[in-house]
Amino acid sequence: MASNKHLPLLLLLVIATTSSTSLPSLAADQDKLVIKIIDAMISGGSFEDWSPAFLATNDEVHGQGLTSTLFLPKTPVEGINATSPLVAAYHIVPQLLHFYNISLMEPLSRIPTLLSGNSILVTNNSASGFTLDGVLVSEPDLFVSPSIVIHRIASPFNFSRYGGDYLY
Ligand SMILES: *[C@@H]1O[C@H](CO)[C@@H](O)[C@H](O)[C@H]1NC(C)=O
Ligand SMILES: *[C@@H]1O[C@H](CO)[C@@H](O)[C@H](O)[C@H]1NC(C)=O
Ligand SMILES: *[C@@H]1O[C@H](CO)[C@@H](O)[C@H](O)[C@H]1NC(C)=O
Ligand SMILES: *[C@@H]1O[C@H](CO)[C@@H](O)[C@H](O)[C@H]1NC(C)=O
Repeated sequence: MASNKHLPLLLLLVIATTSSTSLPSLAADQDKLVIKIIDAMISGGSFEDWSPAFLATNDEVHGQGLTSTLFLPKTPVEGINATSPLVAAYHIVPQLLHFYNISLMEPLSRIPTLLSGNSILVTNNSASGFTLDGVLVSEPDLFVSPSIVIHRIASPFNFSRYGGDYLY
């Protein structure tokens, strides 16, 4: 079961490894951290469990955090599994994006995620109904620290539909 669970995680590491080729040891540490964070998130069973797990494994106090932005789904949706490492990886952006930063993005802009080859699509940047992958950002900047931002979204993103760029 454990080996089965780790298999998809290997996919995620392509991004982390290739984007930091000049710092191989640092990249390896980041890979381990990414696995640890995602393992913790999916072990809880629900989207509600994601944020405490994400915050607990991101040890920014000791400088061992992953500078990142988490999109936290409010309501579950059938067919998008909170225990899937791929789903979890798609909800994490490996950069610090306050809502201010995202609000400046034009529709059809793409935000790269930890799920290799999959990005989030800006679908509507109006102030009254800002959506990503067609999902409302319901509580922007829900949690903000020097290296982590969490935004609540109305429901989970569907990377099968929006993650690749071939549709748009
Ligand atoms: C969610 O994923 C877990 C682990 O892969 C699986 O055991 C469970 O059946 C899935 N649940 C749904 C509703 O697909
Ligand atoms: C987000 O906006 C802040 C404030 O203007 C800026 O300092 C920061 O560089 C921006 N971050 C990104 C990733 O663009
Ligand atoms: C964006 O959202 C606003 C507010 O909900 C809506 O009035 C507008 O039609 C939407 N634009 C597009 C292109 O969907
Ligand atoms: C996710 O997207 C795929 C591909 O478009 C679609 O078949 C599936 O029904 C969607 N799932 C949900 C829960 O909307």
